[in-house]
Amino acid sequence: MDRPTTPEALAEVAARRPLGSGFGPASTADEVLAGVPLTGRTVLVTGGYSGLGLAATRALARAGARVVVPARRPETAAGALRGVPGAEVAAMDLADLESVRRFAEDFLDSGSALDAMINGAGIMACPETRVGPGWEAHFAVNHLGHHALVNRLRPALRHGARVVSVASSGHFLSGLRRDDIDFRSGYDRWTAYGQSKTANALFALHLDALGAAQGLHAFAVHPGSILTPLQRHVPRDEWEGLGWVRPDGRPPAGFKTPEQGAATAVWAATSPLLDGHGGTYCQDCDVAAPAAGDDMLVGGVKPWAADRAAAAWLWELSAERTGVDAFA
Ligand SMILES: NC(=O)c1ccc[n+]([C@@H]2O[C@H](COP(=O)([O-])OP(=O)(O)OC[C@H]3O[C@@H](n4cnc5c(N)ncnc54)[C@H](OP(=O)(O)O)[C@@H]3O)[C@@H](O)[C@H]2O)c1
Repeated sequence: MDRPTTPEALAEVAARRPLGSGFGPASTADEVLAGVPLTGRTVLVTGGYSGLGLAATRALARAGARVVVPARRPETAAGALRGVPGAEVAAMDLADLESVRRFAEDFLDSGSALDAMINGAGIMACPETRVGPGWEAHFAVNHLGHHALVNRLRPALRHGARVVSVASSGHFLSGLRRDDIDFRSGYDRWTAYGQSKTANALFALHLDALGAAQGLHAFAVHPGSILTPLQRHVPRDEWEGLGWVRPDGRPPAGFKTPEQGAATAVWAATSPLLDGHGGTYCQDCDVAAPAAGDDMLVGGVKPWAADRAAAAWLWELSAERTGVDAFA
């Protein structure tokens, strides 16, 4: 029921195939960006001061880009990015739409333009938390905050710009719970994370559909599995059962480093191979194939994360909640 598979969505994912990028799960962000001309380019990375986002920021800066990092903890962000040339921090909390508006207005006032946005900030498996008028926190932070940010920054996105939604194979866990998006009953932290990650994929699908004619493209990515501060809300005694750590204490096979985890996002933000494939969901630096099973380490894309009707419904709800729709 929460993971609908319409014939149209099944057909959409069935058409998806890797393109043969030459990169793979072990590729790093630096390898993906080797030879990519980023001098004079500006990329915004939410969450660009921790985990995968920090690795993406460092690699983009090394490749010559100016990297703008909106942060809910600006001092921490400034510390993490000290010595990274071209990285700039500004205050913004995705859980606070006023702060998103202030950040976006300041950015627009500065006259800067954006070549790409990597929307990587996120929370996972939190205890039940309410944001703003009572919205469920995963949906509000991971999705609604980014909806507002991208739509407010639309005037700064150059022709040919790309928006990358950092989703997850966590989308396997839930489609959109259209009749109870905010978990008015039956809160479950993993279902809430899963719904928000499906929302990230659907956001990219619909943004691309709206923006393509104006030269704006969007992609969703699953970065892989990487141990970062993202797991902080999950008690340590649950980690072994979740397969995040082996009995000897080491990360399990198939996990990536942050530098490998950042690779698909920077690839999606820059690779010419993706021209003509807007709206797709990517993993391991390529378009993801349809998910063949339920193993999140193997990944792939499920139909409810590629459902155009659900994506249009989500956009309308998000525009209504945030009060922003740059395409209306
Ligand atoms: N790690 C994985 O295995 C994995 C797998 C699949 C998908 N992902 C996705 O990858 C993305 C990055 O994850 P990560 O592993 O790099 O996690 P991370 O190290 O915890 O980084 C998340 C970032 O998001 C920021 N953030 C959280 N709430 C925010 C808010 N309200 N406003 C602004 N920024 C906020 C955090 O800021 P603070 O430090 O101030 O909290 C942090 O900088 C997430 O979207 C996650 O869902 C990760």
